[in-house]
Amino acid sequence: MKSLFEVRNLNKKFGGLVVTNDVSISMAPGDRLALIGPNGAGKTTFINLVTGNLQPDSGDVTLGGENVTRLGPASRVHRGLVRSFQVTRLFQDMTPEEHVALAVLQREGHSGRMFGHYSGRAEVMDEVSAILDRLGLFDLRHLKVREIAYGQQRLLEIAMAMALKPRVLLLDEPAAGVPQSETARIEAALASLPADLAILMIDHDMDLVFRFAKRVVVLAAGTVIFDGLPKDVTQNARVREAYLGSYADAGSAA
Ligand SMILES: Nc1ncnc2c1ncn2[C@@H]1O[C@H](COP(=O)(O)OP(=O)(O)O)[C@@H](O)[C@H]1O
Ligand SMILES: [Mg+2]
Repeated sequence: MKSLFEVRNLNKKFGGLVVTNDVSISMAPGDRLALIGPNGAGKTTFINLVTGNLQPDSGDVTLGGENVTRLGPASRVHRGLVRSFQVTRLFQDMTPEEHVALAVLQREGHSGRMFGHYSGRAEVMDEVSAILDRLGLFDLRHLKVREIAYGQQRLLEIAMAMALKPRVLLLDEPAAGVPQSETARIEAALASLPADLAILMIDHDMDLVFRFAKRVVVLAAGTVIFDGLPKDVTQNARVREAYLGSYADAGSAA
């Protein structure tokens, strides 16, 4: 299997605290990887490091064979390494259509001044409509963000990430804060993403993780303690001790 995205021996300390301890993870096109672990394990920091939002102390990140470790976040996005955030960053008074159009224009390298003229460009509008449709947001495209459900706002973030044409998509808790009644929408949206896209998802909902993932990586105190098949993770002694004991025993994780 050819590796599309490769993280090798990544290390990061905050002061004296080791948050990323020699982490190596690789992904191939089409991967569906869940990154799990207790709060404070270093999951979000891992995403910040590989996307260039934080600089590692040591280690390498390669994308499509190119070393991107010293590139800034925008250059990595341009090459297809795209993330969503754990906390929603949307404009309450803008519509889903405007958000996705903004992301398409950003990808094309246009400045903010171009914004507002996008609706006259048929190819931009066609692409925006296709993305909104894929994520089940087309009928809401003209509402303001404040008027749509929180689960749909999280889907809009994924829509914006898709507008950047990712090859590797990193999702930081896409279902966080979403009521149980709306998680099925998130799951359906994830299932509808292109088969050759490599997706890494952080989430705490183990039922969602097990349905989504073909592979699971468990991080505890900055260290990878498991990298393997979902069916093997609950039986792994280190994982049970660090994290999953409560899930395996009681059927739900913290
Ligand atoms: N910018 C920062 N400065 C100092 N410590 C940080 C910073 N960001 C995160 N941390 C610490 O690093 C550890 C890992 O955090 P984080 O990556 O957010 O964990 P997770 O996403 O797995 O819950 C935590 O102990 C957190 O308090
Ligand atoms: Mg986090």
